[in-house]
Amino acid sequence: MTEPAATPSAAPLVDGFGRAIRDLRVSVTDVCNLRCTYCLPESGIAWLPKDERLDDDETVRLVEVLAGLGVTTVRITGGEPLARSHLPALIERIDAVPGIDEISMTTNGVLLNRHADALVAAGVKRFNVSIDSVHARRFAELTRRDVLPAVLNGLAALDPYRDRIKIKLNAVALRGITEHEAVDLVAFARERDLQLRFIEVMPLDADGAWTEDHVLTGEEVRAIIHEQWPVDALPRERSSTARVWRFRDGGGEIGFVSSVTESFCGDCDRIRLTADGQLRTCLFAHDETDLRGALRAGASDDDLVAMIRGAVAAKQWGHEMHKPGFRPPERPMSAIGG
Ligand code: 5AD
Ligand code: SF4
Repeated sequence: MTEPAATPSAAPLVDGFGRAIRDLRVSVTDVCNLRCTYCLPESGIAWLPKDERLDDDETVRLVEVLAGLGVTTVRITGGEPLARSHLPALIERIDAVPGIDEISMTTNGVLLNRHADALVAAGVKRFNVSIDSVHARRFAELTRRDVLPAVLNGLAALDPYRDRIKIKLNAVALRGITEHEAVDLVAFARERDLQLRFIEVMPLDADGAWTEDHVLTGEEVRAIIHEQWPVDALPRERSSTARVWRFRDGGGEIGFVSSVTESFCGDCDRIRLTADGQLRTCLFAHDETDLRGALRAGASDDDLVAMIRGAVAAKQWGHEMHKPGFRPPERPMSAIGG
């Protein structure tokens, strides 16, 4: 392997704890067509005005600068990314940025049926589709929209591409609810040979209603599943958010993103770009770096690199959800990007 050129901008992005940054999450819109109770309020949401959102040229420019600093993977998130128009065109441009070698996408799946072909053609290699229940009524209670059939159609639209793409399912685990949903969700995933991941609910809801009592832990969900389908732990993959377990009967794998009870901050390689062009170095950060402002004020690439390096150097260790005085971030998940 050859060493990267020794120019200052080619030195990789490393934070104050020695963590190298490789993964960028790009929230392409804060708008969403669902109202998941753990994320958005029922009504009265002020979406970003159009002129505050990055346009395609601005987004691509920032990805280029970040790729020059060692970012190699980009995850497209929202809000709901498919709520943004002409998304495949933007993805195609990001995929063409030198240094970017994989694009993935997190979606609620509602509009996937319409866009699957174009997204795969544009270069999306991994899809994480959110599905918190496979029962229409429960799904509608959790998302406040009665659209489970659309999500199922969306998943079906990816089927023809399964030799080329990876698909995972995400389910947020909620105490009092997911105990009753977990086994059917797992059966659904196993039938389709998909990896399902249970995510512990985090204090990222717009209502600020989260308490630790809402968290159904990964361990608790695993115990429920283990009774029916015994599982064995696999070794943890570096920088991954999920711990993966394998079904003993050969029925595939299942993941647990235990964000609350089992921190995975130690080897975090992620940073985030919000739809309004703010760089966030942690989901739970209180500071953002205004890259949009800099771009629009005519910043050079070197100026942007200096801002990004400064932000990354100050990346916080992780979240302190368990500590008294914990303050959730000012914006909900829909505005930060999952
Ligand atoms: N806690 C945990 N996961 C969340 N998501 C959205 N809000 C929260 C929260 N408060 C999930 C979505 C989706 C991914 C982007 O993040 O369900 O799977
Ligand atoms: Fe939309 Fe995702 Fe928030 Fe649900 S969790 S309301 S799908 S942004």
